[in-house]
Amino acid sequence: MRRKAFLKLMPGIAAVGCATQPAGREGAAMPTGRPRGPDDEAWWAAIAAQYEPTDFVNLENGFFTRPARPVTDAQTRHRDEINRRGAHYMRTDLEARIEGVRRRLAAFAGTPAEELALVRNTTEAMNIVLQGLPWAEGDEIVLSNQDYDTVVGILRTLVRRRGVVLREATLPEQPRSDDEVIAAYLEHVGPRTKLALITQVIHLTGHVLPVPAIAAALRERGVTVLVDGAHGFAQLPGDIPAMGADFFAASLHKWLGAPLGNGLLWMRAAEIPRVEPLFADVARPSHDIRRFEHIGTRPAHDVEAIADAIDVHEHMGAEAKRARLLYLRQRWVTAVSSRERVRLRSPLDDARACAIATFSVDGLTPRALQAALWERHRIYTVAIEHPVIQGVRVTVHPSTTAADVDGLVAALDAV
Ligand SMILES: Cc1ncc(COP(=O)(O)O)c(C=O)c1O
Repeated sequence: MRRKAFLKLMPGIAAVGCATQPAGREGAAMPTGRPRGPDDEAWWAAIAAQYEPTDFVNLENGFFTRPARPVTDAQTRHRDEINRRGAHYMRTDLEARIEGVRRRLAAFAGTPAEELALVRNTTEAMNIVLQGLPWAEGDEIVLSNQDYDTVVGILRTLVRRRGVVLREATLPEQPRSDDEVIAAYLEHVGPRTKLALITQVIHLTGHVLPVPAIAAALRERGVTVLVDGAHGFAQLPGDIPAMGADFFAASLHKWLGAPLGNGLLWMRAAEIPRVEPLFADVARPSHDIRRFEHIGTRPAHDVEAIADAIDVHEHMGAEAKRARLLYLRQRWVTAVSSRERVRLRSPLDDARACAIATFSVDGLTPRALQAALWERHRIYTVAIEHPVIQGVRVTVHPSTTAADVDGLVAALDAV
């Protein structure tokens, strides 16, 4: 992803060193330059100071990845302006501001702006694509046994309403190669396969799938590829089109750190007329991606703050952020892996790993383990009770410190 000059884009800034920086918590300045490495605690502490402090250790950052203070400040400024100017803002500035955000997000994601819809979350994007495509009875869709429940729910709705047939691939938990993962999908591809759903990062375990390789193999067989990028976007490197899929959906309130209720939907230009919008729109031509955004009046201040979230992300630097998250995760994962009762349910290999990882402890249910960490140590995690994966999920965040994850390891020794 491209790195842009951050400083000139951020209003409301405080002076530090030779550069002006956005103010974080209690006026804390963003660190200057780049971290010396993923273990540069001083640099990352200055990043952590950009987030509101909590009186507990939050290691459940997968549901909602809290935005930094410069983003919430900007959101408030945008909201105040809209509330002050009312319809004058809506009639004169709204469209241009939204188009500015679309262009900025498209440049960040490496897509043409005309292929990018600003939606509210992955769920909405997935519904638009899956409910909007033309299905015939007997069409087959390949999914996996570890996709997100809500998305699987949309597919089950298609079975009921449109007569499609689902074919479920079984993902290996610790793949020995990409070929093993690709084969799991290809095994279910047949002459009636129309679409495959690939989840870029499995929410249960943080398992990163080799999307470009899977997508290439599927498209070669004429299968349309839909990527659930809820946990991949702005956490993993790479432009959206480079994945080689046909559709990509993501939630921006996860790894981009945008305010709640922001998502994106990308599709190849050729796909746009093929998809019928969920909410009727007769005002725009069939090739216009904006057809999918017609939900009536919406909180534009949240959409405007996407640009501010990109500023913060780019200030950290995509590569430095990824390296930091991986460093924190591998720090606790490596420490607990040697414990006799602990079982890691996520891949260890860096290429398949990210900020999320899941483990279990022999003799404890996920709920009992989650409750023990919370009640005795004030460490917040989430219990995963899924037919395939059971354990406690830990997700680090840019504001997580090495001391936080070391505290988790110490707490597990005491459990
Ligand atoms: C893999 C995956 N897909 C989709 C979603 C749904 O995201 P949202 O609730 O933001 O629509 C989630 C949420 O955690 C997820 O983990």
